[in-house]
Amino acid sequence: PKNVGILAMEVYFPTTCVQQGALETFDGASKGKYTIGLGQDCMTFCTDLEDVISMSLTVVTSLLEKYAIDPMQIGRLEVGSETVIDKSKSIKTWLMWIFEKCGNTEIEGVDSTNACYGGTAALFNCVNWVESSSWDGRYGLVVSTDSAVYAEGPARPTGGAAAIAMLIGPNAPIAFENKYRGTHMAHAYDFYKPDLASEYPVVDGKLSQNCYLMALDSCYNRFCNKFKKRDGRQFSLLDADYVALHSPYNKLVQKSFARLFFNDFLRHASSVGSNIQEKLEPYAGLSEEESYSSRELEKVSQQVAKPLYDAKVQPSTFLPKQVGNMYTASLYAALASIIHNKHGSLKGQRVLMFSYGSGLASTMFSLKIREGQHPFTVSNIAEVMNLQSKLDSRHEFAPEDFVDNLKLMETRYGAKDFVSYSQHDFLRPGTFYLTKVDSMYRRFYAQK
Ligand code: ACO
Repeated sequence: PKNVGILAMEVYFPTTCVQQGALETFDGASKGKYTIGLGQDCMTFCTDLEDVISMSLTVVTSLLEKYAIDPMQIGRLEVGSETVIDKSKSIKTWLMWIFEKCGNTEIEGVDSTNACYGGTAALFNCVNWVESSSWDGRYGLVVSTDSAVYAEGPARPTGGAAAIAMLIGPNAPIAFENKYRGTHMAHAYDFYKPDLASEYPVVDGKLSQNCYLMALDSCYNRFCNKFKKRDGRQFSLLDADYVALHSPYNKLVQKSFARLFFNDFLRHASSVGSNIQEKLEPYAGLSEEESYSSRELEKVSQQVAKPLYDAKVQPSTFLPKQVGNMYTASLYAALASIIHNKHGSLKGQRVLMFSYGSGLASTMFSLKIREGQHPFTVSNIAEVMNLQSKLDSRHEFAPEDFVDNLKLMETRYGAKDFVSYSQHDFLRPGTFYLTKVDSMYRRFYAQK
């Protein structure tokens, strides 16, 4: 099979959200800390009606319907998530409910878990399957889903929630350039979930930022080396039309792109132009360690990279800024944003992708946009996802109601024997929601 990649996409996020500006005031943070300091506009969250299982049921059902895919045609289904519900029982098994009804129980794949990286692991598994000798000619299906919630404190505004489904097969409009992948994996305690009684992670914020940037450097370096080996010339950001980065919050994406630009300068200074070369020259001699802590370098590199950021990165930031950190879905929300904003002019263009999951696992890879064939075209994907109307139909909660909701969710996490409390009014038609959890912790869902 040729040009294996993403044939179709669907995005789901809850309609319930809180404005970052309002949250800032409520939390007593200085004005602009969340909106400018973190670069976030709004944050979506689950009420007790929704979780990663319901969001996955919603997004898969919607994708199959909107692209008219026969459920019998799915041969592999992989879920990426770090949101723990039944621990040993995968989210994928819950999704089998959709396929069993249609008589399809022959579907390989289970869940992949490592912080925000699980979605990428699931995606690679599906792409590799289609390219392998065990492929049976059917489609792969990937779901990336998380509900990101943090304990009270500086990390809380970096939450979010969503599920993204991607259909995988040959002759895709979003094809993988597998020969260039660059991976960096290591051991770190930057973010993890050791307390199984709580949905909240243990997080070392500063360490997680550093781990992210170091992983980015390492992956980019490896990606560029592979490119040079294959194509016989240096890769630079000019070879990528768009850049999508895992987005815990937008400020880190701004800093990361500046870091990539500084990497270009270090590798072959002429690619950044002589004016900029002069401005970055004073930092060329910094040790790697110093380069991560230099505020001056951070500022100057962000300044000089700004025009390229606006052209290549900004189109990817639309959904992540509005919805928040969707963990495993974050990078694919960035890809969805590029498709939403640029679908009319993407043919032949390359998207550079960076996936990061704490702990840590990271990969840089690239996608090539092709013409495709209806319904599998980027224009149709943009139409199906309909991101603007999904954003417009959200319901804003006051910060105090958002906090009350989190308190309710704390009592529900790992609990049994309860019925859902919230009203369904806010759910869009077709949305799956949790109705109750019985005395055996078994979950029950209905569709609005
Ligand atoms: N106006 C404008 N900017 C402001 C203001 C203000 N009033 N106040 C603060 N800021 C800026 C700060 O200068 C800083 O920006 P800078 O880094 O460019 O200097 C930014 O806001 C954040 O403020 P800090 O005080 O540095 O950090 P804070 O204590 O708010 O914590 C953090 C931020 C660490 C990201 C926290 O939200 C967190 O732990 N999040 C979860 C972990 C995370 O997302 N890690 C990223 C990779 S791992 C993953 O994906 C989970």
